[in-house]
Order: sequence, then structure tokens, then C-alpha cells
Amino acid sequence: MSMHKKNLLFYSLFACLFVFYISACTRTHHSGIVPGAVWYDTEGNPINAHGGGIMYHDGVYYWYGEYKGDSTYLLDWVKTWECWRADAGGISCYSSKDLVNWSFEGIVLPTVPQDTQSDLHPSQVIERPKVIFNDKTKKFVMWMHIESPDYEKAHAGVAISDSPTGLFTYLGSFKPNGGDSRDQTIFKDDDGRAYQIYASEWNNTLYIGLLNDEYTQHTGVYTRNFINQSREAPAVFKHRGRYYLISSGCTGWDPNIAECAVADSMLGEWRVIGNPCIGEGADSTYNAQSTFVFPIAGRDGQFVAMFDRWNKTNLIDSRYVWLPLIFEKDKPVIEWNKEWTLN
Ligand code: DGJ
Repeated sequence: MSMHKKNLLFYSLFACLFVFYISACTRTHHSGIVPGAVWYDTEGNPINAHGGGIMYHDGVYYWYGEYKGDSTYLLDWVKTWECWRADAGGISCYSSKDLVNWSFEGIVLPTVPQDTQSDLHPSQVIERPKVIFNDKTKKFVMWMHIESPDYEKAHAGVAISDSPTGLFTYLGSFKPNGGDSRDQTIFKDDDGRAYQIYASEWNNTLYIGLLNDEYTQHTGVYTRNFINQSREAPAVFKHRGRYYLISSGCTGWDPNIAECAVADSMLGEWRVIGNPCIGEGADSTYNAQSTFVFPIAGRDGQFVAMFDRWNKTNLIDSRYVWLPLIFEKDKPVIEWNKEWTLN
């Protein structure tokens, strides 16, 4: 080999190694969960998935959330409350096998900037998406809170997809059972039935409605719960045959104390059992608000409680507070932990 060829080979090899080194440096790897810190995805970008929920499917966790626009503004024409908001950026999805390192799967329900009348126009509000899989139709079904900028519309929106990573097809929005639907979640039970849990009657009363077999509409069967107690941000989970519901009070973007209730069936009577949070910051839910609770796969009685620490004047910089939820006898308990691992 000539000297010239040898040099060329050496420099090409060096360039490859350099590119490999730079890309390895820019990829982010976490070993634990740090509640309240900026959480970077595997490409090194801050995760943008607020008010989110988790779906576990075929060994992978999918995190769906609100993709918030990067400028926050106050709608001063809304006089009834401090209406801080950011443009809607659609619904994002991240995937992970270890719950710590998350890869960005893209915007799985994009906005529709060209249609000012669309629910999905960036000027509207798209919040608290949750996704479940329908074993009969094989569709992934997303429910979300659809709003006008002043939060007066109070609709539930539905979208479906053949794949967990989208794209989702938007089916539209409506007032379930003829009433308001604001903060919401979806719960799929072991028997295949699914429910929407949503703040109704101007956020005064929390409704639980049974969905149809396709999970795309309500059946008309529903219950009114916590009547006139103004509960929002519902998160539902099941343990040893009983149902648990964590919610917050209604104080806009500001934190308040969480409350947990228990029931023997989703449409049954709910009994309040108090604040599940303990330790430092428990009275303000660690300066955050509930969004979802999910079981850790293969770990009996071990859950992750997801909260949002809203930053109302810079909403995109709202942080994620994820904490372990365990059971002490039959009471769920969440304790502040500044860094934790699944071990
Ligand atoms: C509280 C809700 O829980 C949030 O999802 C959001 O709608 C804010 N209110 C808006 O102030």
C-alpha cells in the first residue's frame, strides 16, 4: 500500500472514531429518576410530555403527553382566572424498557395549523392524553381533554391508531353524557371494560363513565362522585381487586393537597382515605399535581405515581415528579425521594 493510501486510511478511521465519540457523548443515559429535574430523552433533548400517561404494551412502556409550545402567555381577556397558556403542539410519545431512559417516538397526534376551526389548531388546548389498547379491535385508543383557549369548551377528544407510535387519527370531540369533560383519565380493567374519569359540572363533580366495546364512545352508564368537592387531575389504579383514585383540588396551575379514595368497583361508592403523600412537601403534593399511576411490570404492589410540577409562566419547563407508590397494609403511600432507581 502506498504512503498516500495509508494516510487516507488512517485519517478516515480517525474521522469515523471522532464521529462515533461525538454521537456517544450527545446521547444521554440516566441510571435513576430525579423528580423535578429536567429529564432528557436519549437524544439529549428535554422530554416534552406533560399531563401524561403510560401504556405498557409488549414489554415496552409508552409515555404520551402534551407537547407544549415554547412560549407562554397570559390571556388577559379571560377575567375569571389567571389563564396562562402555551400553544398546543399535539401529543408526543416516548418509549422505554427501563422507565428511566426514554426515546422520542415523535408527535403521534399532530396539530392542524392550517384549520383555525379544528380542535387541534395550536391556539386550542389539548391536555391530559391517555392511551389504552383494545384487545378486540387491536386499536390503540387515545382520550384527551379538548378545550377552547379560555377553558370554556370542556370536551373529550378521541383518536385511534394501529400502532402505539401513531400516527393517531382524530375522531373528534364531544361532551360525554351531555356534560363538561375537563381533566380526565382512562382506566382499562382486567375484564376488558374501560372507563373515562373526568371533571364535570364546571369541575365541581367527578364523573366515571363506562366506555363502549371499542373504547371510542360512552355507553351512557356513568356515576357522579365527590359531588361539589371540586376534584380534578384524576389517576386510577387497581390493587388486589380494589380501585384507587388519586386527585387534586382545583387551584389552576398552583399545587394543593392530594386526596385518595378507594372503591370495590369502578362504578361503586368511593370512600376518601386521605392524602397518600407523606414526608417533606406532602401537603402541596411536592409542589406538583397528579396525572397518572401505573403498575411496574412484574412487581406486585409496586407502582409509579406521576405528577406534573407546573411552571405557569414557562409551561414548557414544567417538570415531572415521578415517585414510587407502595402499599402499607391496604393504604397507598407515596414518599418524596430526591433520586431513586427501580432497585
Ligand atoms: C389544572 C389542570 O389540572 C391542568 O391540566 C390544566 O388544565 C390547568 N388546570 C390549567 O390551569
